[in-house]
Amino acid sequence: MTHTASAYIRQLAGLAPIIPVLVVDHVEHAEPLARALVAGGLPVLEVTLRTECALEVITAMCRVEGAYVGAGTLVTPDDVSAAVAAGATFGVSPGAPDALIGACAQAGLPFLPGAATATEAMRLHAMGFDILKFFPAEGAGGITTLKGFGGPLPDISFCPTGGVSPQNAQDYLSLPNVVCAGGSWIAPADMVAAQKWDEIEARARAATKLRSHAIV
Ligand code: 3PG
Repeated sequence: MTHTASAYIRQLAGLAPIIPVLVVDHVEHAEPLARALVAGGLPVLEVTLRTECALEVITAMCRVEGAYVGAGTLVTPDDVSAAVAAGATFGVSPGAPDALIGACAQAGLPFLPGAATATEAMRLHAMGFDILKFFPAEGAGGITTLKGFGGPLPDISFCPTGGVSPQNAQDYLSLPNVVCAGGSWIAPADMVAAQKWDEIEARARAATKLRSHAIV
């Protein structure tokens, strides 16, 4: 049921090595932030549904040419319908409850579900998902765990998120089962609040030099 969704996520993963995870408190920051990230070479944006204006932020970012805007922190089916109505073209969740998977399938929203264990990954793979968010990456064992998945589960790829940093991002991306990674360091909330667009663009540009070794 979800092979098409995974294909779209795979396509996004091929556009940039890093997906900035964004927490935006003011809707007027949405467009300049998205412009800075696209200009810096990171066009795939995850807007977390953790602020009051997050849905408006998604809608505003969708107006920025070249941006691929998704909704993160999807928890309930209502989050899915709200994200789709706002214009999100993909969804990300820290986990993968059945109700959320069903809501994404029904809405036709390409979904990057979260998994932290082999059983969770195997269950999602059996449902048709072949790219998963590995969350919380560092908390769940980081590179060691992903290396461990690679032997018995070679057909499952991951987007580690949670504790990925400029210091460890390339090590993650050098694993054959890591297609991209997510992280907030490109545009941390305080830097967004301070409207440091040039610095955010520079961080994005630096991140484009990271390389996934996986075949996307
Ligand atoms: C989050 O929950 O905000 C994401 O997993 C990003 O985590 P990070 O701040 O460690 O990059």
